[in-house]
Amino acid sequence: MPTIWDQRYAQRVQRIQGSAIRELLKVTEIPGAISLAGGLPAEEIFPIEQISAVTQRILTTQGRQALQYGTTEGYTPLREWLAQKLTSEGVRVTLDNIMITSGSQQGLDLLGKLLANPGDPLLVESPTYMGALQAFNPYEPAYVTVRSDNDGIVTDELEPALQQHPRCMYVLPTFQNPSGVTFTLERRQQLIDLAGRYDTPIIEDDPYSQLRFEGEQLPTLLALEHARQQQNGQSDGVYQGNVIQLNTFSKILAPGLRIAWIVAPAEVISKLTLAKQGTDLHTATFNQMIAYELAREGFLEEHIPVIRKLYHERRDVMLAALDEYFPDNVSWTRPQGGLFLWVTVPENVDTVQLLTDALEHRIAFVPGVAFHPNGGGSNTMRLNFSNVNPEKIEEGIHRLGKLLHARMLL
Ligand SMILES: Cc1ncc(COP(=O)(O)O)c(C=O)c1O
Repeated sequence: MPTIWDQRYAQRVQRIQGSAIRELLKVTEIPGAISLAGGLPAEEIFPIEQISAVTQRILTTQGRQALQYGTTEGYTPLREWLAQKLTSEGVRVTLDNIMITSGSQQGLDLLGKLLANPGDPLLVESPTYMGALQAFNPYEPAYVTVRSDNDGIVTDELEPALQQHPRCMYVLPTFQNPSGVTFTLERRQQLIDLAGRYDTPIIEDDPYSQLRFEGEQLPTLLALEHARQQQNGQSDGVYQGNVIQLNTFSKILAPGLRIAWIVAPAEVISKLTLAKQGTDLHTATFNQMIAYELAREGFLEEHIPVIRKLYHERRDVMLAALDEYFPDNVSWTRPQGGLFLWVTVPENVDTVQLLTDALEHRIAFVPGVAFHPNGGGSNTMRLNFSNVNPEKIEEGIHRLGKLLHARMLL
């Protein structure tokens, strides 16, 4: 129902809309429901004891600093650790190339603030991460979309989109949310070359590449861009390229800490720092210190394989259940890492309608339309396998399979 407040909000608030799908998905909070809808990590392997131990230590030895205001760029030892790690992997950066954010979600908002203009084109994949659209929407971009297939963004269709001079492009090359798709090396290289040719900045959102449980690790766009600049003689030193990379501790440690980081040319980090100052002054010092202590001790090297193993098992259970229970004319992606896979059903089945059936049977997923800023995807859906145990995955896919068979008969 409209209220007096509707006239009081700024114009951009028109772009901040609740979604019918989110309303529907509230039902998944009912006990006994099986939700394949969320994007949550498995909480049974959260490192509670380790976090508790470092928390005690930090309070005892550095309590005053941990509870004091900090710098906007982030806790220096954590930035240095991240810079050294990246440099050891071949992308030469210093701490001036790194800013800590309160989740990558904040990074997306700050990049929207920095790069988007009302009405100007902003290039995204279709489908793309819904949270990025929510972050960018208040800056009122006009989305230009490029389709993806099983090899990632369709680079043949990229050039006409770049000819519209988007202010930047936002892509998820590895285990994409929502589709689970990974760009091949060839597509990555084509994308970097094209973006270089059209002078278009790339935002590479990379929360999942460390969660690869199968196949070969591929170079990130950041690494390829760094190499391209060096080959072209444009840089022999610290990273200065077109790619801005977002990364996070949410999926490799715990999302509740809200610790993430942005890698970018130093001048971009300076501007982002000013933008962040106006938002939250800085990310929680205490939590940054927790992440740093665990990282420094090598805990992540122990913990990430545990996460990979669990998600691998769950993905296998989901793939086997899909094979067994889903109709033959339904297809799905087979991600080699990450948290999600993507299902395509025949065109006459609308997955929003299927969701209403599914919720009655206490099973939830996210219909694909939610991830397409300019429409489409009504016969697709995202399934999450990280946050549900194998019995529930099997049971959930069984129930969904029955509903799909029934819908296809209509
Ligand atoms: C693609 C993508 N980007 C960003 C985020 C936000 O991550 P964070 O918890 O670091 O804010 C998520 C979370 O699911 C995500 O899937």
